[in-house]
Amino acid sequence: MIKTIFSLMLVFFTLSFGFGQDKSQQLNEIIKEWAAPNHFPDHVILSATSDPARSIAINWRTHADNKVGYVQIAPAGPGPDFRENSKTHTAKRTLINSANATPDGFESSFFEVQIESLSPNTLYAYRVGNDDFKSEWHQFTTANDQTAPLSFLYVGDAQNFILELWSRVIRNAYKKAPEADFFIHAGDLVNNAHDESEWNEWFDAGGFIHSEIPAIAVPGNHEYRSMDSNTPKGERVLSMQWNAQFGLPNNGPEELLETCYFIDYPDLKVIGLNSNRDIELQAGWLKKVLEENDKKWTVVTYHHPVFSASRGRDNEELRKHWKPIFDQYGVDLALQGHDHSYARGAVYENPIAVDNITEEKYVVGPVYVVSVSGGKMYSLSESGWGEFGATKEKTGERTQLFQHITIDENRLIYKSFTATGEMFDRFELEKTKGKNRFID
Ligand SMILES: [Fe+2]
Repeated sequence: MIKTIFSLMLVFFTLSFGFGQDKSQQLNEIIKEWAAPNHFPDHVILSATSDPARSIAINWRTHADNKVGYVQIAPAGPGPDFRENSKTHTAKRTLINSANATPDGFESSFFEVQIESLSPNTLYAYRVGNDDFKSEWHQFTTANDQTAPLSFLYVGDAQNFILELWSRVIRNAYKKAPEADFFIHAGDLVNNAHDESEWNEWFDAGGFIHSEIPAIAVPGNHEYRSMDSNTPKGERVLSMQWNAQFGLPNNGPEELLETCYFIDYPDLKVIGLNSNRDIELQAGWLKKVLEENDKKWTVVTYHHPVFSASRGRDNEELRKHWKPIFDQYGVDLALQGHDHSYARGAVYENPIAVDNITEEKYVVGPVYVVSVSGGKMYSLSESGWGEFGATKEKTGERTQLFQHITIDENRLIYKSFTATGEMFDRFELEKTKGKNRFID
């Protein structure tokens, strides 16, 4: 009897295991098919260039068979006639084959156009594609070339449950600030650097928001993975798709193209840094860029936080090499990710004043923010700030967030919102007497 039961169990497990393997293989094929490009352009995205008042970068993807791509662009008009004034710009094509880097990989054509000589503060319409297959006309506004109020959105790690849970964050961010000048993604946009279905989730979740608000993105540790999926311990390299799908500036160190750069608005310099590698090299570059900086406001963004929010995630190297430069040249705001929680604070001129509501508070160096937008969450740590002279003023756990920041002459207004649209955190900075006054 026992022998019979054992044999039946063996048959049952063999059958279920066999079926399970087939099913998961089938599912993987379906997911791969879902993530694959076709003849119609997809993953259409704007990237900010170094001079966003006069230029824009446009990238998209198609089936590898498409060898030619172009952008048609014109000042937008109220009716369909604007199309008559459109100019055509031929795209640069990059063929990417991710099949060796990820189980869901394939070959695709990535197209990129950098358009120069645009008019500042002007609404343009554009579409991408070729003679046979084109996208819809998208609209975007070039940046102002004169001092004017400016605003932008910023999110931490999208990374996990991207389509399932990050979608509501980016969509709510757009609803809150549809006129935002750009959208900062502070690293770990996906979990596995080269994974096609994760990038497809990221583009699906953002949809036309990616095509109409220029992105400013820096890579996190999850954008670095081994190229060959069979040898996961091999050298980690930047996501195969990164340079092909973003048109970010190439004004940083040669080794770090499109991952370390600066972007200039009339009153604001945005600096993207790559916190994964070459920290000292970037310190030298950053010092030079900041020495020549004549902008009123400076915002830096990178992935690993200078003051860590969650346990066991300290980044001493950044504190040693980058923080002194932020302090010396008066960087105003540092937007970070990586810790899957929320923490906001700064080093204050007089830390005792922080708890005293009647005293004026002045910040030394940037206000630092760690934020998360995707669905993976870590617990907060008590340490990481006080022992290094910084004061942590607002924290959050298990909350998906986006941030909207406005700069208007001498004032910076920072607001953080939950995925459901409620205000979660808020402060202002005012430039006065050559310092930043912190206003709760
Ligand atoms: Fe990370």
